[in-house]
Amino acid sequence: MNNVTLNNGVQMPILGFGVFQIPDDETQAAVEAALAAGYRHLDTAASYGNEEAVGAAIKASGIARDELFITTKLWIQHAPTGNVQDDTRRAFGKSLDRLGLDYLDLYLIHQPLGDYYSEWRAMQEINKEGLARAIGVSNFHPDRLVDLIDHNKIVPAVNQIETHPFHQRATDQELMRERGVQIESWGPFAEGKNNLFTDPLLSAIAEAHGKSVAQVVLRWLIQREVVVIPKSVRPERMAQNLDVFDFELTDEQMSRIATLDTGASLFFDHRDPAMVSWLGGRRID
Ligand SMILES: NC(=O)c1ccc[n+]([C@@H]2O[C@H](COP(=O)([O-])OP(=O)(O)OC[C@H]3O[C@@H](n4cnc5c(N)ncnc54)[C@H](OP(=O)(O)O)[C@@H]3O)[C@@H](O)[C@H]2O)c1
Repeated sequence: MNNVTLNNGVQMPILGFGVFQIPDDETQAAVEAALAAGYRHLDTAASYGNEEAVGAAIKASGIARDELFITTKLWIQHAPTGNVQDDTRRAFGKSLDRLGLDYLDLYLIHQPLGDYYSEWRAMQEINKEGLARAIGVSNFHPDRLVDLIDHNKIVPAVNQIETHPFHQRATDQELMRERGVQIESWGPFAEGKNNLFTDPLLSAIAEAHGKSVAQVVLRWLIQREVVVIPKSVRPERMAQNLDVFDFELTDEQMSRIATLDTGASLFFDHRDPAMVSWLGGRRID
């Protein structure tokens, strides 16, 4: 597996396995299948409600902890104790317990909402104490990312953002590169929206390489040095999505894929007031 080197020297596998929207009672089997297929990098979140099942699969696999790269995410803290830093530490402890781990490889702020400056201060401590080898953010637009960087000590190692052929984030990626933040794609297949898996341009490139559209999309992201965490509950697709290191897209194919960019989200906008309010009101504990 190829790695990227994060801004603090931590090595992160460029390809991992995401578990969003896998029902809790199916997650353990899916993660066990993914680990058996060869995935060593897992991406979950407190808000997915399946950290315990991910932890059970890790335990059942018997794979040495230092061979795994485990990410989870902090949901928006609503300050029940009146202190978001304390709440962040408590939420972190709960995630570790649910996962059955004594440290994380990467801990992310899930949303750029609420008092994420206090959350970040707590995460900086968590990082310094070695409880999370790297810390980062998710869904941060460049202005929010730069503001967080400019007013804190630790530069986020990662920003996990919607990135796929219809929303390519090249400008965001450039800014992140300048600031030392690794881009990580969520929704690499746009969850199949816009008929991604039958897109004519992607299908033609896939046919030219004897690969699937999914493999071309993952390869295109990896060649752009974007970390990918595709989700599937089907073992044959898990294997297919890992099998993307034996071919290379040409510059011309990369340029053709670049023409698919719409420059907009296919899901929702983190700057839409209605969405900000909806996400901000969501409680998970
Ligand atoms: N930070 C955030 O806010 C955020 C938001 C969304 C997602 N994420 C993370 O990113 C991960 C990936 O994103 P996602 O799960 O939203 O969507 P995705 O990976 O873009 O798409 C998953 C969909 O593609 C299908 N699929 C997978 N491999 C395929 C293949 N080889 N051929 C055809 N279909 C295939 C899956 O179906 P089957 O399962 O039936 O195979 C599923 O319907 C998540 O699991 C999560 O870890 C983070």
